[in-house]
Amino acid sequence: MDSIKNKQLTYLYCSLIMLMGWPLIAGLVSFAPAQQSNAPADALTGNWVVRIPNPDGTSRLTYLNLKQEGSRITGSIRVTQFYYLISESAGGPESFTLEGSMKDGQSVRRVRYEGKLVGDELRLSTRRRPEDKPTEMVARRAPVGEGALPARISPPARHAVPDNGLAKTPPMGWNSWNKFAGRIDDATARRIADAMASNGMKEAGYLYVNIDDTWEGGRDTQGNILTNKKFPDMKALADYVHGKGLKLGIYSSPGPNTCAGYEGSYGHEEQDARAYAAWGIDYLKYDWCGARTIYTDEEMPAIYQRMGDALQATGRPIVYSLCQYGRMDVWKWGAEVGGNLWRTTGDIRDTWDSMTRIGFRQNGLEAWAKPSHWNDPDMLEIGNGGMTETEYKTHISLWSMLAAPLLAGNDLRSMSPAILSILTNREVIAVDQDKDGKQGKPVWKSGDQEIWVRPLSGGATAVAIFNRASESAKVTCRWTELGVSKKARLRDLWEQKDLEWPGPEYSAAVPGHGVILLRLTP
Ligand code: GLA
Repeated sequence: MDSIKNKQLTYLYCSLIMLMGWPLIAGLVSFAPAQQSNAPADALTGNWVVRIPNPDGTSRLTYLNLKQEGSRITGSIRVTQFYYLISESAGGPESFTLEGSMKDGQSVRRVRYEGKLVGDELRLSTRRRPEDKPTEMVARRAPVGEGALPARISPPARHAVPDNGLAKTPPMGWNSWNKFAGRIDDATARRIADAMASNGMKEAGYLYVNIDDTWEGGRDTQGNILTNKKFPDMKALADYVHGKGLKLGIYSSPGPNTCAGYEGSYGHEEQDARAYAAWGIDYLKYDWCGARTIYTDEEMPAIYQRMGDALQATGRPIVYSLCQYGRMDVWKWGAEVGGNLWRTTGDIRDTWDSMTRIGFRQNGLEAWAKPSHWNDPDMLEIGNGGMTETEYKTHISLWSMLAAPLLAGNDLRSMSPAILSILTNREVIAVDQDKDGKQGKPVWKSGDQEIWVRPLSGGATAVAIFNRASESAKVTCRWTELGVSKKARLRDLWEQKDLEWPGPEYSAAVPGHGVILLRLTP
């Protein structure tokens, strides 16, 4: 699972390569010289597989489908869900290098392998970045066609998927990815459900226990999706979670493989939706990932519509979460394909930079948030240890101003009382869950200080005074500038106390990286 943990690094690396230009990198790493060889001129030709077993019974797979003609090697390299065409090669059986590239939306992803043929094995090495230690692996011959890119299924004609009426307020719950990644299993999910049902989170509104990637096994001969060893019985897990008064969510991809390289729903959309419904699943996060090897970004809406239709055809209410990192202005078509929420950004990390880069960039999307349809700036990192409590308060305050889904991403079994109280501040959650579903936006900025306003039901207003600087700063709100014209009941939602009406303006010292969250009730 190290590979999963390091996935963001890979993305970073790919972006860096895109920025710097591949020729620069290629120039730093010289190609292996062609060597004299007694091996036949096509010794590398064939389908080769690297199989790295995961503890859950699945394997992480890399396929090299090679055609060698003397010093020219062509073909493809599949690394879990990504299919690269070999764009450069050099050398021969004693020592060769291969570079593969694939188009991914507007950018290009690349891989590079060095290797040699030893007996009937390919000894390979690759590195994410030129300065990394190489990862060594062994590829063995695989049957022709194994691991090949499946035939393309044409996207369906577009139509509007009826509104499922779910998620009238932004979904609340927990998701396994941020804390557990590939380590999530049935027992952990149950203990998380136990914690959520007994620690006050359920009463505060947290409802969904969402299993992210790495639950999938393969398929049986009828094409039915199987769970892997970590999830012996998904229906039993759903029954257990339902027994706690909670709901169970699951994850898949429209591609042949998920982001972590597990089985995706490609070509099995209706069958998978029926399986989820039969298990008692209440929420699906559907992650583009492996679909990029088959479809263009322009085809995304039709591909998401296919699963939107499939979920509705089951007759079971299943919240539909689109995860495609905000590409193609998803907020403009997410509702039409049956989506209840759609990711607007790449993956969050547990750092102040990542959280604020994502959160403060959501303005401009207000028009698209409404009951049953939400912008999703990704899951919460609260309690994962990379930010201070002050920063985590800013995190949930900003998400609440945005009417964002509140999916905790920490270990609910072992969090501190301080973290629990940040996650369960009822008055902050009431801002997030306001029934009018209007997303807030910034109305005032000066340097690192920003004031955001969110209209709430009954004529109330939430005002968040953010200080993005690391030192404390005094900020003054002038109510008329914020669109508040009358004296109101003024309440500080983190201090949980009413404040005396200060007249036309309110000044306060906001701690570094902190927030003052106010509610004005007429
Ligand atoms: C993508 C998603 C993440 C998570 C992982 C799982 O990166 O954006 O939220 O679901 O895949 O592999």
